[in-house]
Amino acid sequence: MENFPWPHKDLLDVDGLSIAESQHLLDTAEQFQEINSRAVKKVPALRGKGVILFFAENSTRTKTSFDIAAKRLSADTFSLGKNDSSLTKGESLKDTALTLQAMSPDIIVIRHALSGAASFLSDKVDSSIVNAGDGWHAHPTQALLDAYTLRKYWRDKNQTMQGKSLLIVGDVAHSRVARSNIKLMTALGLQVRIFAPKTLLPKGAEHWPVQIFDSLDKAVRDADAVMCLRLQLERQAAGLLPHLSEYAEKFCLTRRLMDLAAPGAPVLHPGPMNRGLEVADDLADSSASLVLDQVSAGVAVRMAVLFLLGTRKSGAFPA
Ligand code: CP
Repeated sequence: MENFPWPHKDLLDVDGLSIAESQHLLDTAEQFQEINSRAVKKVPALRGKGVILFFAENSTRTKTSFDIAAKRLSADTFSLGKNDSSLTKGESLKDTALTLQAMSPDIIVIRHALSGAASFLSDKVDSSIVNAGDGWHAHPTQALLDAYTLRKYWRDKNQTMQGKSLLIVGDVAHSRVARSNIKLMTALGLQVRIFAPKTLLPKGAEHWPVQIFDSLDKAVRDADAVMCLRLQLERQAAGLLPHLSEYAEKFCLTRRLMDLAAPGAPVLHPGPMNRGLEVADDLADSSASLVLDQVSAGVAVRMAVLFLLGTRKSGAFPA
């Protein structure tokens, strides 16, 4: 891999990355995916480095894959959750950040319910900060792993991402995944469509670089890929939704809808999935589903993120 000095201390969102940097990160992840298929899945690239996983919101995929990614690079990881931290005793986010900084970690990966929490931390500490999801704002590694998954899917068919259409469907208003994906996919040359129930379409979406549809049938027609979003019930005010069974009837992605999409169009979901609500059970388990490819890509992409941040002052790709 060519020498590509990484200029960023942190990864707060994808709009801090140039197109060349995003492509380099995905290329680096591709090399790490090869390491993930070896019998011994470990390289010494980050030996001696410390990574704190500070997850003040629950996570299965993101937390586990950052932990695995760091360990495969030989870094030491330390986990802190909201309920086992002194946040529950009233300690502020600022004091938590300064306390963690005093233990000299090289990288802090943070998930927090407050939009802007990662950026707040990056101003307070010298360690690299990786945003693993902050409120409705951003989830950059999710967008990067989604881009990785789609790039590979089309490359395996001798196609490129350029000009392909991606429909994002569901609770756009509360989705950090949608916001980061819209920025990254647009930068990488995709045309992004969105469809959301009226109450789950955020104010100002008309200014986003997307095509907004008012009918799910119309939105899916000829789409090259479809990404369902999780209903973020924990972030919603009361009254935004009809009864969940009515939501499922109107807005759940089904095989009938996917028959309207471009032939072979894949289905993505960032997880966790609410089957039968956001995506039909049989569709989620079908060959069109890239959901588990996304999870697998998550390890490689997070290895690339940790590697580029952890070696930005030195770094050659490990043998
Ligand atoms: N997609 C995602 O962020 O999943 P987790 O909440 O399980 O990390």
